[in-house]
Amino acid sequence: MGDIRRILVTGASGQIGSELTPRLRELYGKENVIASDLRKPVSDDGPFEMLDVTDAKQLDEIVVDHEIDSIVHLAALLSASGEQRPNVAWHVNIDGLYNVLEVARNRKLRRVFNPSSIAVFGPETPREKTPQETVTKPRTIYGITKVTGELLGNYYYQKWGVDVRGIRFPGVISNVSPPGGGTTDYAVEIFYEAIKNRRYTCFLKPDSILPMIYMPDCLRSIVELLEADLSRLKHHTDFNLRALSFSPIQLVAEIKRHIPDLVVEYKPDYRQAIADSWPMSLNDSAAREEWEWRPTFDLQTMVKDMLGVLSERHRSGKL
Ligand SMILES: NC(=O)c1ccc[n+]([C@@H]2O[C@H](COP(=O)([O-])OP(=O)(O)OC[C@H]3O[C@@H](n4cnc5c(N)ncnc54)[C@H](O)[C@@H]3O)[C@@H](O)[C@H]2O)c1
Repeated sequence: MGDIRRILVTGASGQIGSELTPRLRELYGKENVIASDLRKPVSDDGPFEMLDVTDAKQLDEIVVDHEIDSIVHLAALLSASGEQRPNVAWHVNIDGLYNVLEVARNRKLRRVFNPSSIAVFGPETPREKTPQETVTKPRTIYGITKVTGELLGNYYYQKWGVDVRGIRFPGVISNVSPPGGGTTDYAVEIFYEAIKNRRYTCFLKPDSILPMIYMPDCLRSIVELLEADLSRLKHHTDFNLRALSFSPIQLVAEIKRHIPDLVVEYKPDYRQAIADSWPMSLNDSAAREEWEWRPTFDLQTMVKDMLGVLSERHRSGKL
């Protein structure tokens, strides 16, 4: 690997962190990746610190004590949880990020990875093949914190040379840790319910197309951007990424090829309005040109893999 030696992962017990942390440990060494969160991780397979990212002093102490040179900052409230508790979303997503950027500046860290989201877009944004440079006027508190995060990261890079990088992730589909309260969570829940109960009630309309990514592609994108050559990057904190795009009804049709007796009802709730303000697909030419991003999973291979992993776990009584 390149110049990164010791990484602190914040929010490491969440959906992405639970799988990214072990992957980073494979690449950088178990003792060189310090997981942290407000709650304990699913598996305690390496160093862990209880850390509230809104506590700047504690964050600084951990960075110094563990000789951290890079931070992968995953601690956040997501779109649906954020709408339930906007003040907490602001505090964690903005003050937490500010603390991370300040410690990176003061301790001269090598890199910060701060995920953004398709939630930076809003109703005025073109919804198909959403361009890299476009209108970012979100209507959710989560989206507002994510746009601010992109801008703040760029500010730290331009003003102080802090190497902050980020990707506008679409909905992440995975099978280790449950999603943390996003608008795309249906695309994970449906697999568990299809296998366990053969029934699912979807909180989005059947034709609501949203962009998604399968966890193996998500993990690879983070590692590839972390290790990308800085001199090739024209963008830093706000890369569009394209992997999958589908509607609930398209996902259901694909799952039914494996589980024909699955029954799905549609009862859209407050999350429908959020989904309606997000893109259906993204133009990711900047990521493709600047760090050679290529997705590997399509709808068919993702569904086959998800069902394979979860069915096996169900058979062994662990689902
Ligand atoms: N999962 C997705 O679909 C998705 C899509 C786009 C962007 N993202 C971004 O990726 C990052 C990680 O998302 P995730 O899906 O793993 O989220 P998650 O909700 O599953 O995990 C977030 C973690 O942060 C922790 N946390 C919350 N407040 C904290 C605090 N004050 N201090 C320390 N830890 C705290 C939580 O305990 C949780 O374990 C976030 O920045 C999110 O906005 C995720």
